[in-house]
Amino acid sequence: MCGIIGYMGHRKASSILLKGLKHLEYRGYDSAGMATLSSKVEVRKDVGKIAELEKRLRFEEMEGEVGIGHTRWATHGRVTKENAHPHFSQNKKIYVVHNGIIENYQELRKFLKNNGFRFYSETDTEVIPNLIQYEMERGKNFEEACKAALKRLDGSFAVVIMHEGEEKLIAARRGSPLVIGVGDGEYFVASDIPAFLEFTKKVIFMYDWDFAVITKNGIKFYNLKEDREVERSIDVIDWDAEQARKGEFKHFMIKEILEQAETIQRAIMQDEDIVAAIVEEMKKAKGIFFVGCGSSYHACFAASYIFSKIANLHVNVMLASEFPNFKHFLTKETLVFAVSQSGETADVLEAVRAAKEKGSKVISITNVKGSSITRYSDSFLLLNAGPEICVLSTKTYTSQLALLTLLAYAYAGRYEEGRKRLKYLWNVVYNLTSRTSREMIKKLAEKLKNEEHLFVIGRGLQYATALEAALKIKEVSYIHAEAFAGGELKHGTIALIEDGTPCMVFVSEETEKEIISNAVEVKSRGGYIIGISPKNNDVFDFWIKVPECGVANPIVQIIPAQILAYQLAVLRGYDPDKPRNLAKSVTVK
Ligand code: F6R
Repeated sequence: MCGIIGYMGHRKASSILLKGLKHLEYRGYDSAGMATLSSKVEVRKDVGKIAELEKRLRFEEMEGEVGIGHTRWATHGRVTKENAHPHFSQNKKIYVVHNGIIENYQELRKFLKNNGFRFYSETDTEVIPNLIQYEMERGKNFEEACKAALKRLDGSFAVVIMHEGEEKLIAARRGSPLVIGVGDGEYFVASDIPAFLEFTKKVIFMYDWDFAVITKNGIKFYNLKEDREVERSIDVIDWDAEQARKGEFKHFMIKEILEQAETIQRAIMQDEDIVAAIVEEMKKAKGIFFVGCGSSYHACFAASYIFSKIANLHVNVMLASEFPNFKHFLTKETLVFAVSQSGETADVLEAVRAAKEKGSKVISITNVKGSSITRYSDSFLLLNAGPEICVLSTKTYTSQLALLTLLAYAYAGRYEEGRKRLKYLWNVVYNLTSRTSREMIKKLAEKLKNEEHLFVIGRGLQYATALEAALKIKEVSYIHAEAFAGGELKHGTIALIEDGTPCMVFVSEETEKEIISNAVEVKSRGGYIIGISPKNNDVFDFWIKVPECGVANPIVQIIPAQILAYQLAVLRGYDPDKPRNLAKSVTVK
């Protein structure tokens, strides 16, 4: 995944692009670059993080009011200056930034080589400017050449293209996100809204196969699949630019963890009529699937217990990437819930498409209005969590849980009761994220920071929390953390417990007796027991008190684990906002 941006307007493009790239760095951070257009096009790019490149390449010296920028997460080709974007055509007239993968690039490269083109990078991207040059050399103007070239590409991508001598940007997408910001006499185009949120809240979400021609006088949209001009409307988003800034915090991760007292409340502020209509669909449905990936999958998994407890309803929970194996069960009467923070995850999109093909209804739960998944769904609910910049899901995970819990209450005809119970969490979450609480967890992190392995157990709803806690710890601190249902450890993995092996134990009133007995089993083999529990217990070597919240336990109990993961990353010297090898939205399968 990479971040791309373009600007066309009346300000110095390089400053706008630089700000935007800083906001997009969560999407890729191994190299970056930009190209601006004044009398000629100037390109500066290299390997390194943006803050460092800003000093070294002095982007802000670059002149011009039109430009494109890129921050890279390498997929095709190593991390080198040559592979950094923007890429340009052999005649150095056409400049491209690209996010996604061109599947047929080898074939196109061969075709271009046979036509005399030379390549300077190992990327798939470089075929794009050269294909455009090829088309222009055969008489097409820039716009028509871009259309022809893009039609020849297979794969999923978003691109912004610029041509020397033309005050124009071409933006196009197929499978990868791209959104246009509409300002006063200026336009922004980026992979994600925070890149330009400081300048405008008016946005146009591009559709797959859309091709936009952006000039100072306006935007024209075409759909390349339908081969015709199309209209795209402006949405006004209610995200706040402040939410996309770190402010006094060192990292977005901790900022977003601390926002949860508020974001959980925003997640349950839903239109009651829409919730009621969704409940009706659920009641009519013969078979309900919840699909998601990573943390969103864990939210679905927790929700399956919540629906079982509150609404006496069985739902099938499935990893989106495994969903194709079960799609033959889909009928017109099936209801599929697609749960995705970004609304762009390729595996979830694929599940949505499979459901639509079978005539099933799809309801999505996402944080991004206008995202592909919301658009392909029959209806959607938004998390309203504001932008989540850290690569790890924290606030959107608890928002997903809160919203799914509210739905379960609504299904059971206890909507108001559900809302009240979830509202009451404000105080609990506020205390759990307080400085005192963070300092206490930091002490635990000090103790654990040199561990190589860690186990996490829970039963019932706490099993879902264990899965999410283990994911948080491993993805950001790189400590191997593995989660088990409390009863499972003794069926094999207990063999790994040695003197001092840390084991986190999530306890609720309902599961206390059995999970404590599982903790004792671990302790008897030398394990170091960290209890996350409403009550202290002799078996705990370290106790984190979290009040009993019944079906809302998953929402509150994950918070200390998020803080622990954060502290571990910081103490081990890693950047928690940008864990290695990870991308915020995974738009490839
Ligand atoms: C973990 C994390 C990922 C995402 C997963 C799905 O912290 O962020 O596991 O949850 O990639 O992403 P969305 O929710 O955007 O579909």
